[in-house]
Amino acid sequence: MKPPHDLERVRADDNQNWFHPWEYMPDAGHADRAIASHGEGIYVYDEHGQQLIDGPGGMWCVQIGYGRREMADAIAEQVLRLPYMNPFSLTSAPPAELAARLAALAPGDLKHVFLTTGGSTAVDTALRFVHFYNNIRMRPDKKHIISRANAYHGSTYLGALVTGKDREQNWFDVASPFAHLLPHVNPARRPRGQSIAAFCAEKVNDLEAKIEELGAAQVGAFIAEPIQASGGVIVPPEGYLKRCWEVCRKHDVLFIADEVVTGFGRLGHWFASKDVFGIEPDMIICAKGLTSGYLPLGACLVSDRLFRDVAGAQARGASFGHGFTYSGHPVCCAAALKNIEIMERENLLAHVREVAPHFQRRLRELAEIPMVFDVRGMGLVGCVECTVAHLLEAAHDDEALLTLDTDLGTRIDRHCHALGLLVRPLVNQCVFSPPLTITHEEIDQMFDKLREGILRTMHDIEQEFGIKVA
Ligand SMILES: Cc1ncc(COP(=O)(O)O)c(C=O)c1O
Repeated sequence: MKPPHDLERVRADDNQNWFHPWEYMPDAGHADRAIASHGEGIYVYDEHGQQLIDGPGGMWCVQIGYGRREMADAIAEQVLRLPYMNPFSLTSAPPAELAARLAALAPGDLKHVFLTTGGSTAVDTALRFVHFYNNIRMRPDKKHIISRANAYHGSTYLGALVTGKDREQNWFDVASPFAHLLPHVNPARRPRGQSIAAFCAEKVNDLEAKIEELGAAQVGAFIAEPIQASGGVIVPPEGYLKRCWEVCRKHDVLFIADEVVTGFGRLGHWFASKDVFGIEPDMIICAKGLTSGYLPLGACLVSDRLFRDVAGAQARGASFGHGFTYSGHPVCCAAALKNIEIMERENLLAHVREVAPHFQRRLRELAEIPMVFDVRGMGLVGCVECTVAHLLEAAHDDEALLTLDTDLGTRIDRHCHALGLLVRPLVNQCVFSPPLTITHEEIDQMFDKLREGILRTMHDIEQEFGIKVA
């Protein structure tokens, strides 16, 4: 396909005018981002026409892959029929039908669906609902929210408050008396000699101890990603989520599952909370895969029990004074409905369950590479974490080597790009969440390229620093 734009112009406009998310400010104005041209299936093509396997699936979102004509048709048809509708006073078929579909797909009694513009605004909706709920129920002190280190819940002010990643918090003021972060839940970082069972017990205890320290009467909710995604694909120890959910029930603390990444098939189910982790949260947040990234949309699902506590005769005359111009946007909802239809028709959930063991096997094989510190994942999501920190002694604490870990992801990304693979570097980690349509053979191609990219990076380092990584 011929690129429709003058590439030099795109580069200049990008550098001069587009202030990107996570802009690395020292490079602002002269960044050298690859220019994405078009996509087809699991592939993205860059400005030179190079075919790249989309390892991160956009940003954990392109479930059905690129280039779906019927998505384009559904979107175009809705644009012509009704491109916008005021959600404060009207309703329309796409958002109403989507809400009903989501309520039917969700576990438990999550029957009430608040539609938003993305994941962050869905997180905000959940957190504001917690405060609203407790105000209506005359429990004005029950407002504290507990989250965890390495969590990512978004970039709005509230979403950032409960985000536990240093990189996102640094240089911003996100302090609030209402937000509390528990220590990390990464089994790979547990103290040497500690069993997984003991680590799990300690992590569950972190939550209960925090609730007791603050007083259950002060704690409104616990928010958790079933798998911490951009925190580095941290899969908690088995049973951890279920036990946290039980602790929340015991102390009358609401459990909010942020399924922005784990939802919509990533783990082989519409929602992972119940089908994978055995929990029925009070609220679930989803976005991303809901439209396969074709258009922006998010949702906060609220349980019938909670909703009824603050509706009708219990409402004390209140309106839930929260919403967005684009809540329930009919075009985005039409895209979500078509996306669900495609996922059902193509049995994508069953497909994920079938290919995921192969994906995880290929991922785990990378652990034998000396520079790889940890590999982890579940379903069609995975992370390779690399390190050269253990070589510091051999290199006599060379300054450059000291900072090298932070650059490993970018170095691997560079090699992988040349080999035809997009990766998402997160400091010394590369995360993978390819389109759910990926086949066995494509999984093999992806991991072959990744392995080669890591080996080339390792080779570079050995040359540069005159050391042996193995
Ligand atoms: C778990 C989780 N929650 C919330 C968000 C925020 O979603 P959005 O970027 O659509 O606002 C993200 C985005 O990556 C996420 O991974």
